Amino acid sequence: MKRCRIGILTGGGDCAGLNPAIKWVVKTALDRRLALERDTQYEVIGIRNGWRGLVEVNPDGSNVDKYVVPLDEEKVRTWDRYGGTNLGTSRTNPYDPNNDCSRRVIRNIESLGIEALVVIGGEDTLGVAHKLSQVGINIVGIPKTIDKDLPGTDYTLGFETALDVIVEAVDRLRTTAGSHERIFVVETMGRHSGWLALEGGESCGAFLILIPEYDFSIEKVNELLIEGRRHGARYEIIVTAEGAKPIGGTEIARDEKIDGFGHKTLGGIGEFLAWEIRSGTGLETRSIVLSHLQRGGAPCAYDRRMGRYFGIAAVDLIVGGDFGKMVSLRRNEVTAIPLEDALGKLNLVDVTTQYDVERYNGRRTILGRYG
Ligand code: F6P
Repeated sequence: MKRCRIGILTGGGDCAGLNPAIKWVVKTALDRRLALERDTQYEVIGIRNGWRGLVEVNPDGSNVDKYVVPLDEEKVRTWDRYGGTNLGTSRTNPYDPNNDCSRRVIRNIESLGIEALVVIGGEDTLGVAHKLSQVGINIVGIPKTIDKDLPGTDYTLGFETALDVIVEAVDRLRTTAGSHERIFVVETMGRHSGWLALEGGESCGAFLILIPEYDFSIEKVNELLIEGRRHGARYEIIVTAEGAKPIGGTEIARDEKIDGFGHKTLGGIGEFLAWEIRSGTGLETRSIVLSHLQRGGAPCAYDRRMGRYFGIAAVDLIVGGDFGKMVSLRRNEVTAIPLEDALGKLNLVDVTTQYDVERYNGRRTILGRYG
C-alpha cells in the first residue's frame, strides 16, 4: 500500500467550525476501509499556529514537537464540539514584503515530508496557499471567516455561529433597552462586508442596519429614529458592521497598527454613532461592541455539519490528486473551485437587491419588485 503524509493548518482569525473541519479531515483520511479502497495509507500531521508554524519549525532541530502534532482519530474524537482551533492560528504572512520567508516555508514543507497540505483560512491565508500552489506545493483549501466575504463560495465556516451570538446578544439588550427607553448601537465584525450585520440584523429584527457597502447619512439615521419614536417605538436596536462609515467619512480604526497582510484593526463606529445620535436627537443612546464574542464559543449545528462536509471534501480532492482547489458551497452543494477563484473581488452585499437604502435595513421584497 502507498503512503502519503497530509499536513493541516488553520490561519487568520479563529472562528467556530475549524475544529470540526480538522476532525473530519483526519477521520476521512485515516478511515481504514477507505484506505483499502484507495490503496493508500494516509497519515495526518497538524501544524501549529498557521503559517508561523511552517516558518518557525526546524525539522532538523529540537522544536518539531512545538509546531507539529500527529493527529489520529482518538486525538480528534471530540474536537467538533469545540470552538476556536486546537491547532492555534496566526496572521503571519510568509510573503510579507518586509520579511519574505516563503522559501523557508517551502523547504520546511519538503523536510517534514508533507505531500498534501490542507489550509483552512480566509482571503489572506488562502492567498498564501495559492502562491505556494503555483510553485508546486499540493494544496487544498477550506474556506472560513465569520465575515463570509470570500468569493467562490456561498458559505465560510464560522458565519452561522457568529450570527447566533449576535441574535442572542440583541435579545438580551432588548429587555434593558426597553426598560430604559434607550437606543442601543450594536457593533459587529465585518471589515469589508456587511453580511454579519445584515443577516444578524435581519435575524434579530434590528430597527436599522448599517453596512460597509453603503455609506450612511447621520442625519438620515436620526430622522429614522425620530420617526420611529413618533410611531410609538419605545427603544431601538441598531446593528452596524465595524467597517460601516458615514458619507464622506472613513472607517474607524482602533489604532494605526497594521498586520502582515496590511489590515488595520477596525472598531469604534458604534460609539461614534451613539455620540452622533445623542447629540442629534437628544435620545439616550448606548453602544456595545460584540467583537471577539462572535468568534468564540462552541460551533452551532450548521458549522459542525459544514466543517464535516468541507473536511471530507478536502480529503476527496487529495485522494483524486486534484490540488490547487478550495472546497466550496454552491447552491447548497459542496463542490470545489480553483483557489484563484476564491481570491478575486470580495463577496459583498448587493445593495440593489439585498439592502433597503431608504430604511437602512434588510430587503422588503424577495420575489417581486415594487414600482
Ligand atoms: O477577518 C475576520 C475578522 O473577523 C474581521 O471582521 C475583523 O476585523 C478581524 O477578524 C479582527 O481580527 P483580530 O482582532 O483577531 O485581528
